[in-house]
Amino acid sequence: MEMINRMIEGNRAWVESKTKDDADFFERLSEGQSPEIFWIGCSDSRVPANEVTNTEAGDIFVHRNIANMVVHTDMNLLSVLDYAVNALKVKHVIVCGHYYCGGVHAAMNSKQYGIVDNWIRHIKDVYRLHEKELEAIQDEQKRFDRFVELNVYEQVFDLTKTSIIQNAWHSRNEPKVHGWVFDPRTGKIVDLNITFDSNTQMPKIYKIDSEIVKR
Ligand code: CO
Repeated sequence: MEMINRMIEGNRAWVESKTKDDADFFERLSEGQSPEIFWIGCSDSRVPANEVTNTEAGDIFVHRNIANMVVHTDMNLLSVLDYAVNALKVKHVIVCGHYYCGGVHAAMNSKQYGIVDNWIRHIKDVYRLHEKELEAIQDEQKRFDRFVELNVYEQVFDLTKTSIIQNAWHSRNEPKVHGWVFDPRTGKIVDLNITFDSNTQMPKIYKIDSEIVKR
């Protein structure tokens, strides 16, 4: 069967399996969402948030883009982040990168890809910040893997610099911000253990006060 038809068939089967032991599943789903998790992941088809974490519809609020980037002028990201943090009041924000990320790989060479080069530029900035460490890794695969991890680290850090996250920390000491990497070689998620839940370890220059300046 063609994929496009398989999808509709798959949906029918899914509805059936959901309601088999839980008749009210869709009634609850229609009443609203209260996910505890906000996921920022890569658009890559191999890393679907719900499937790789064995979670359900309603569990995870999701934003995906090329190479799971947190670009602080990206209105799409900022709007989703604001909704997740201030309306849904999520407890955790996860940046989940993945090894073999095409966006990260593209940032490692000097090929021109077109319009996406403007997006990839942000990933190249991560390389420049960690150039010493990355250039010291001789093995190309290991350097690629490490670049993926460092990119996640910088995106987690970029999240903590936003007024949205810092204001939430000021008012409710949440959310925790995590950095994970999905490994398509094993299917496993690696926790990079770079969780932030306050601005105490943040360089002073990025800290912002809880009140807006009165003018
Ligand atoms: Co990717």
